[in-house]
Amino acid sequence: MKVLVTGGAGYIGSNTLVELIAAGHEIFVVDNLVNGKKSTIDAVMNISNQRFVFFDCDITNRENLSCLLDKVKPDVVMHFAGVKSVNESISNPIYYYDNNFYGTSCLLHSMDQVGCKKIIFSSSATVYDPKGEPPYTESHPTRPINPYGRSKLFSENILEDWASLDRDRSAICLRYFNPAGAHTSGALGEDPRVEPTNLMPIILKVASQSIERLNVFGGDYPTDDGSCERDYIHVTDLAKGHVAALDRVRSLLGYNIFNLGSGEPTSVLDLVMKFSLVTGVEIPYQIVSRRLGRLSEVVGKC
Ligand code: NAD
Ligand code: WQD
Repeated sequence: MKVLVTGGAGYIGSNTLVELIAAGHEIFVVDNLVNGKKSTIDAVMNISNQRFVFFDCDITNRENLSCLLDKVKPDVVMHFAGVKSVNESISNPIYYYDNNFYGTSCLLHSMDQVGCKKIIFSSSATVYDPKGEPPYTESHPTRPINPYGRSKLFSENILEDWASLDRDRSAICLRYFNPAGAHTSGALGEDPRVEPTNLMPIILKVASQSIERLNVFGGDYPTDDGSCERDYIHVTDLAKGHVAALDRVRSLLGYNIFNLGSGEPTSVLDLVMKFSLVTGVEIPYQIVSRRLGRLSEVVGKC
């Protein structure tokens, strides 16, 4: 299929490009490089030994986006473009709604203009109500607790409304748990321009000694070792999940949601230990107080 990938210069998008090319799809990429890098696009071309068209364009620029879609006329859009820092979304919520929600609306508008009726969207487990008991299935109630999460849920809502208007339309929302890891080449990992707040990039910074030690948020959770549990999914598995969704997008009509996780809980201390075991690098850490405004434990059920 001819697939337009938004946000393809980012962490998950770039890993997915490799799998899409390997599966024989024709790809086109659009990214404004606010957090992605052109060198990541070059790395995908090197790994896949294939060239493809890259557009440096902001999806909230309706005019440019419509022009671009008119040129490409994709069968399917895979929509990764978005900003994703919870902290930044709290200090600058309007940017998050503009970029993530309005960006999705612009995309649907441009898709309508060229008759593209299929979209696969990067959503997040952060949309779930943190009050309920994990594991969270797709039917668990939603109630995001920060502007980032709300920008994702509002985007899901607009996709649901859009999909209901025409029986040939398909919108697949993939709710990721905690993506981690890198492509086996080592060339496509999580390397954000902004200061990382996610666990794995921070562990990597400690390993490379640019941060002295890891602060483990909370040592009094009701888990085996007292540290907080999450559901980590390897980025290559996540990427393959997108190819699987693409295989179904023509037959799976309407609006559908799928969790993408491993279903297995891993604690922060487990992850630190496993990291040291695999790399041989010690990660100094200290237990500090719990981080506020976040989910306590999240485990997916797919
Ligand atoms: P990322 O920041 O590495 O990639 C996002 C890409 O989108 C970047 O290359 C960025 O430059 C681009 N982008 C952002 N706004 C844009 C705009 N207006 N126009 C064009 N390009 C734009 O992030 P990621 O980790 O690869 O995440 C990809 C998607 O998955 C995001 O939508 C994110 O919300 C979602 N998600 C990520 C996680 C996670 O933990 N990484 C978890 C759940 C959901
Ligand atoms: C993982 C675990 C922390 C940093 C966030 C977003 C969510 C989603 C994924 C996109 C937790 C612990 C972390 C540190 C630590 N993103 N930790 N010390 O909180 O599950 O979710 O990223 O949709 O929206 O909220 O991920 O990587 O920040 O934390 O102890 O310095 O690591 O408490 O248990 P989280 P994370």
